[in-house]
Amino acid sequence: MPSCRRTAPHASCARPHRIAFVFILFAALLSVSLPAQAASAAASGTTPLVLNHVTGSRALPNGIELRSGSAILQITALRDDLLRLRVGPSGTLPEDASWAVLPASRTTSIAVEPDSTPHNVGFHTAKLHLAVDRATLALTVTDNDGRVIIQTEATHPIEYHGSSFRFYARSPEDEHYFGLGDKPGPLDRRNEAFVNWNTDSYGWQESTDPIYKSIPYFLTFRNGISGGVFLDNTWRTSFDFDKELRDTWSLGAENGPLDLYILYGPTPKAVVEQWAWLTGATPLPPMWTLGFQQSRYSYYPESTVRQIAAKLRSERIPADAIYLDIDYQFKYRPFTIDPERFPHFSGMIHDLLAEHIRTVLITDLHIARVPNAGYKPYDQGIAGDHFVHNPDGSVFTGPVWPGPSVFPDFTQTASRDWWGTLYADFVHDGAAGFWNDMNEPSVFGVASKTMPDDVQHRIDEPGFAKRTANHLEIHNVFGMENSRGTFDGLRKLAPNVRPFVLTRASYAGGQRYAATWTGDNSSTWNHLRQTVPQLLNLGVSGFALSGADVGGFAGSPQPELLTRWLEIAAFQPIDRDHTSMGTNPQEPWADGTTQDLDLRRHFIETRYRLMPYLYSVAEEMSRTGLPILRPLYLEFPDASHDRHPLDFNNGSEFLLGPDLLIAPSPYPDLLDNYQAVLPPVGWYDFWTGAPVVADDQQKMRVGNDNIPDEDLQITLHPTIDQLPVYVRSGSILPMQPLVQSTMEKPSGPLTLRVYPPSSPVRSLREHQSCSGSVYLDDGISYAYQKGDFLRVQFTCSRTPQGLVVHISPHEGTFKPWWNQYRIEIYGATGLVQSASIASGPVTAAYDSDHHRLTAVIPDDGHAIDLKIVP
Ligand code: GLC
Repeated sequence: MPSCRRTAPHASCARPHRIAFVFILFAALLSVSLPAQAASAAASGTTPLVLNHVTGSRALPNGIELRSGSAILQITALRDDLLRLRVGPSGTLPEDASWAVLPASRTTSIAVEPDSTPHNVGFHTAKLHLAVDRATLALTVTDNDGRVIIQTEATHPIEYHGSSFRFYARSPEDEHYFGLGDKPGPLDRRNEAFVNWNTDSYGWQESTDPIYKSIPYFLTFRNGISGGVFLDNTWRTSFDFDKELRDTWSLGAENGPLDLYILYGPTPKAVVEQWAWLTGATPLPPMWTLGFQQSRYSYYPESTVRQIAAKLRSERIPADAIYLDIDYQFKYRPFTIDPERFPHFSGMIHDLLAEHIRTVLITDLHIARVPNAGYKPYDQGIAGDHFVHNPDGSVFTGPVWPGPSVFPDFTQTASRDWWGTLYADFVHDGAAGFWNDMNEPSVFGVASKTMPDDVQHRIDEPGFAKRTANHLEIHNVFGMENSRGTFDGLRKLAPNVRPFVLTRASYAGGQRYAATWTGDNSSTWNHLRQTVPQLLNLGVSGFALSGADVGGFAGSPQPELLTRWLEIAAFQPIDRDHTSMGTNPQEPWADGTTQDLDLRRHFIETRYRLMPYLYSVAEEMSRTGLPILRPLYLEFPDASHDRHPLDFNNGSEFLLGPDLLIAPSPYPDLLDNYQAVLPPVGWYDFWTGAPVVADDQQKMRVGNDNIPDEDLQITLHPTIDQLPVYVRSGSILPMQPLVQSTMEKPSGPLTLRVYPPSSPVRSLREHQSCSGSVYLDDGISYAYQKGDFLRVQFTCSRTPQGLVVHISPHEGTFKPWWNQYRIEIYGATGLVQSASIASGPVTAAYDSDHHRLTAVIPDDGHAIDLKIVP
């Protein structure tokens, strides 16, 4: 966000924005959009180097080494389903180092079988075949069924223009592309082109590019089969999907290595899991981060913060966190506290904690340049030579919130370690989470919005050659290394507490250190709609724990928009209400009618009731990398009859974990009816418990013995008091009694909502079954890694005697808050003959309004079966 928003009149703000826009456009044109041939003219007059034939080849134990004139290419297999291509245009391979890829994964390799024909050289693994055309250098990767995963263009070979390069591959017209992080626009990246250059993009819109993050990775989807492509290059990179050249996707960079990873599913889930293997999964977050979070730029003074906390409680809005933005600081200097505005800072944090509300503090990376002022971060940073330099060796200074500022060199391990120590006082004060903003890095007053290209970063990092890199190389990883310094520092300061770091800028792999949000969006219907494709693409790009400012950052939402936003965000991974300075109040009680407040509360309450499910999904994420918010194609790659990914309504529908499908209107401001599509597995209405019946004209309904191999379409009429949410039949959803915060112990049984496959309980067929699980631990520490967790598996199955709900014995040593299960079986059509557990009969109540049977049974940690005889 530019400084002029705070200090200068609007007229003087307009100009830098326009300059910035022209600059970005120019930069984008220069390095991205021009065809390679035209780009060569712009590339400092050098003759293009075209890699278009094989002049030599050598089998390697784990791959192949090729020569193409002066260039060397190495293609190796890290696993049976993951290849890496590295190219050295002048005969030497680029440095084998990475900010993104985990060292253990990068250095893994497997033996391959060489293949050679008069036309091709290559190799195969147990899953993939690589063939390189000797005459053209076209690379083709196929799977064992001969399906093409990636095929480079014989007519557009790899080209270098000076230090920049471009790589072209075929884009079959039925191939789809997802990922690339937080980039706005449609879910499917096809027919779009993008630049990666982390940018402070206040007020970004649907077609703004680039914005805050650079994740040069995408997932492909064709006929239900997925692959992935990662360009591990931190410079300004660009991607084009069938936009510039028909039937072609391409990627390139203005400098740095051509270092490409090719992933193969075949399912999209397998690709997501590989991506996590390569770059790490999002760690298990503290449970409170899944609660509702209230933020604003800025809550001050202290009395205001206390009032907001009190109001959350008196209005009975469940909540877990309040954020303090830059105004808690003394003169906006990071790691300070304004003693006038916050006279009892630590006391306030502890008082909020007593109300079960945690405090998250913003800690921007720019350090105020205030020598001789007793400002520890500056004095220590100068003494330790921790700030980035200008080419002449002086410390680089640029204006941000505190005025002239200096910037830590996060590419030095020692400087990151030092940065981490700055959190000691705040951790001691009881702050629970930290917010790394402005770390693109944002610099005010310049058209580029960031530091100059020639700023020096002194890389001093295990795995990298010790060297000085200019800002062009480091820019896109700066924010990630900032959040890494924060995460690692917190790990050292409180070794048994899971850190929560929220970062705005990042690079591939940044999910290892921080959650993220989509930056300065706007309070418009369009931005509400944009949250879904953005968070879905972030999820498959690794950022499985992310959110958008609920209600919108810039401007103030109409009451109905805020209500709708709070409804939808209740089903998104991070649910943080945040707005800019000077906007109208945006807390759940702001504006609107009593109905608005009731609805907003109701949806946040629903999120808390779903916490056992949400936390279990988060735990799965931490093991597998599977995102909390899932696109339909991820769970149902084979569902659509035309073999295109299910992203009906342009990505407005989404799944929360594997079992909940949320279907907001694709145009949430319109009153028109809309169609939702449900994958053909059978669904129940989450709110009423009723099996979903498709539109009449489709002549199909859940419950039929033959589920048609077509999507289930339903027509929905949007009303503000309803958000269509469906539960996958065959799932068992763990839920809990309402609490006001994750720190409050729920009182009562754990509810297991059992959704038998397809049909009412009375007509369940023998092979039909359902399953689910719950994961729990203390929600805050690492004790779970030593076995202090709880996992319970649930199934339901039809036996000759009736329906059996089977609950496995507790796994792990963690003692849950419940000692009973309340089992709700949906799709029930009436009372049953009997319900029993081994020790005897239990009462089963029938509730026709919710189409369910309910029975409460004890849980003493051992396996238990509930038998229902219809
Ligand atoms: C940036 C952030 C925003 C924050 C503001 C003040 O614009 O994106 O979330 O409130 O700075 O710190």
